[in-house]
Amino acid sequence: MSTTWQATARARSNMALVKYWGKRDEALVLPHTGSLSMTLDALHTETTVRFTGREGDDTLLLDGVAARAGETARAALLLDLVRAGRAELGAAVVESRNSFPTAGGLASSASGFAALAAAASWAAGDAPSMEALSILARRASGSACRSVLGGFVEWTRGERPDGLDSVAVQRQERGLWDVAMAIAVVDTGRKETSSRDAMRDCVQTSPYYAAWVATTARDLDEARRHLDARDLPALGEVAERSFLKMHAAAMTANPPAIFWKAPTLTLLEEVRLLRARGTPAYATIDAGPHVAVFTSGSDVERISAVLRDVPGVREVRVARPGPGVERL
Ligand code: PMV
Repeated sequence: MSTTWQATARARSNMALVKYWGKRDEALVLPHTGSLSMTLDALHTETTVRFTGREGDDTLLLDGVAARAGETARAALLLDLVRAGRAELGAAVVESRNSFPTAGGLASSASGFAALAAAASWAAGDAPSMEALSILARRASGSACRSVLGGFVEWTRGERPDGLDSVAVQRQERGLWDVAMAIAVVDTGRKETSSRDAMRDCVQTSPYYAAWVATTARDLDEARRHLDARDLPALGEVAERSFLKMHAAAMTANPPAIFWKAPTLTLLEEVRLLRARGTPAYATIDAGPHVAVFTSGSDVERISAVLRDVPGVREVRVARPGPGVERL
């Protein structure tokens, strides 16, 4: 075997316009619904994996600091899938760096696990298809499967129990449509509820979860159509509907998951005001307090300046449609 079991990959984060919320299979990470996201050029993770060829535990450094046990365990799960049947690869040394502060609460799992899936596969000497990489990344974090591809990406729900049809599919290349996101990072400590736990509670207990599943397929059909037509207001309206339904379901779970903070509501109000004054601006929120605003490439800087002035906003990141995973 090769003496250099080492590779480095760069993957971008993504922001869903039609959200993924809830698994039908926890182990394989199979969603109840499909979802659609934009890959974000400005937020990336670079990950180097080296298989040592020696027995032992995997080690994981995140931005130069030893990762916590839970994070290392999730990485090990993915590394085990790559190592399956090839004990000679041995323990892995993983070093991962984000272009954005992870403590700020911006989702790093999507870019992180997409980069890890690619770097580990390439380090092991494999040449997986993008579909196979997407499936691998999905096993560690659902939203990561979309970060394998660039532009606008759908994660198809799939029907198969083995999950081989629950993969990322590119719906529009980047560079064809001048749109962007301004992501307002709200000042908080670490988020209290993990999306994984909140999702599980929501599937099991929210009276609104069935409504989420019943209406998301329609949202996704509409979103795809508006994306093809490059109709920003129409796609933005679907995106707002999708995140509001996701949060309504999460808030009405037992225990409830309320991700919003006071600045979150102020930001939503600002977005509404911008729109009332004629600016195309549409909000979306993941499992946290931060607000991403989907808008045109020509309006994004002006919108960022408005969001930056909202009390409680620590920083605003601007992102445009980015590329898929790359080997460095
Ligand atoms: O990052 P994950 O795979 O635990 O899922 C998070 C899901 C949301 O970010 C809330 C929505 C989405 O589709 O990305």
